[in-house]
Amino acid sequence: MKIKYLSKDAIEEEISNIIINEIKSNPKCVLGLATGSSPLGIYNRLIKAYKQNEISFKKVTSFNLDEYLGIEETHEKSYRYFMNENLFNKIDIDKSNTFVPNGFIKSDKEASQYDYLIESKGGIDIQLLGLGSDGHIAFNEPGTSFDSLTHIAKLTDQTIKDNARFFNNVNEVPTKAITMGLKSIMNAKKILLIATGISKAKAIKSLISDDVNINLPVSILKEHKNAIIYVDSSILN
Ligand code: GLP
Repeated sequence: MKIKYLSKDAIEEEISNIIINEIKSNPKCVLGLATGSSPLGIYNRLIKAYKQNEISFKKVTSFNLDEYLGIEETHEKSYRYFMNENLFNKIDIDKSNTFVPNGFIKSDKEASQYDYLIESKGGIDIQLLGLGSDGHIAFNEPGTSFDSLTHIAKLTDQTIKDNARFFNNVNEVPTKAITMGLKSIMNAKKILLIATGISKAKAIKSLISDDVNINLPVSILKEHKNAIIYVDSSILN
């Protein structure tokens, strides 16, 4: 794992260029995608590259990290809806090649089928990640086993509070989600994490100073050979 300190704009530019180059050299690549505000600037750059005929997503496959439990795909707060609105509807990707975990899964065993699906498509070439203020990645909250595959996760009070900004009020935020596990994420060939926004400063400071530990899920990335953490330099001042 390495850490790069750049401006928010330079982070979005560099990550989108890595993805654009991957699609150019490997049109059938498998992308691991994230929701939240962090990847939006990157998605806008990818849409622009598509509109300028620089790239085509026709043969690309994508897997999203997570989905709220018990929320229909058509619900406007679902992560499927978010992906359709912010990326898939604006590019030429074949929707049947875009996968988002099913929010109506009943057991962890059923959830882990997602990992077999990823494997059957050749594994994730590039995994995009955001960061929770408590150091979570996807919905792997502090304490999640490093061996976890896709599973049902209970959200912490902090995450529910953080994500309330996307809902009308905190009571509307689902308390559970289905998420790729830490092992599922570590299986990706390349990992790019975006840490922008002041709320990420504490988790980044811990990542820099602490050893790999289960209470800081993002710290597992220290064990990945091809992971880059992009930190907005202004958040550490
Ligand atoms: C949620 C998602 C994470 C995301 C995080 C940060 O909890 N499950 O995958 O990384 O929010 O969101 P944002 O990018 O909006 O700060």
